[in-house]
Amino acid sequence: MVEVTNLSKRYEGKRTVHALRDVSFRVEKGEMIATMGPSGSGKSTLLNIIGGLDRPSEGSVIIDGRDTTGLNDDDLTRLRREKIGFIFQFFNLLPTLTAQENVALPLYLTGAGGKEARARALEMLERAGLGDRTEHLPDELSGGEQQRVAMARALILSPPLILADEPTGNLDSKNGQEVLALFKRLQSRFGTTVIMVTHDAKAAAFCDRILNMQDGQLV
Ligand SMILES: Nc1ncnc2c1ncn2[C@@H]1O[C@H](COP(=O)(O)OP(=O)(O)O)[C@@H](O)[C@H]1O
Ligand SMILES: [Mg+2]
Repeated sequence: MVEVTNLSKRYEGKRTVHALRDVSFRVEKGEMIATMGPSGSGKSTLLNIIGGLDRPSEGSVIIDGRDTTGLNDDDLTRLRREKIGFIFQFFNLLPTLTAQENVALPLYLTGAGGKEARARALEMLERAGLGDRTEHLPDELSGGEQQRVAMARALILSPPLILADEPTGNLDSKNGQEVLALFKRLQSRFGTTVIMVTHDAKAAAFCDRILNMQDGQLV
C-alpha cells in the first residue's frame, strides 16, 4: 500500500536540518503501523511527505502503486483527496461548522449533493458513537468527541490510507482509549491502512508493528 524508498529531507536555512536520512520501509494493505521516537526525530516530516503535504529532498513514495514524487501539485492534491485521510493532534475541525457539516465537508468537495452528504455524515457520526452530537459546534464537544468527529471526517470518503499525527496526544487516557478503540474498529471494518505517529505505548499496542525513529533514521 505504501512503499517508501531512500527518503531524505533537508530543511535548508542558516543551519541545514537533516529531518530524514535514507528512510525505507513498506506497509501492506490493512496494516496499522505506529511510528515512535523522540521529539524532533522526523516523525511528522515522514508523515507529511507520505501524505503529499511536503516534498522529499531525495527518494520516493509509492501509494497504492503510484509514485507521488513525480506528481505536480494538482495531481498530488487529487491523489491526497482520493486516497488519504488525515487526523491531527489538534483535530483541525472548522469552528463555525457543526459536527455533521464538518464530516460532510469532504463529500461536498467531491461534488456530492447536500442531502446525500448529510445522510452519509450522519451515518458516519452514528458509527463513531456521536449520533446525538450532530448539531454541536466543535467547541461544544469534548476533546475526545472532537477527535472522533475528525476521524469520521477522515473516513467519510473511505480512503485506503489514514495518516494520524499523535491522534491521542491532546486527550486524557480515557478519551484516548475511546478514540483508539474506534480507530481499531473502523480500521478492521474498512480494511484501512493506518500509519500513526504516537508517544503513547497504549496507542502503539493497538498497532501491528512499530517503526522506531531516531535522528531522522529508522532504528
Ligand atoms: N519546516 C521546517 N523547517 C525547518 N526545519 C524543520 C521544519 N519542519 C521540521 N523541521 C525540523 O526537522 C526535524 C524533524 O521534525 P519533525 O518531523 O517535526 O519531528 P517529530 O515529529 O519527530 O517531532 C526537527 O529538527 C525540526 O526542527
Ligand atoms: Mg511531530
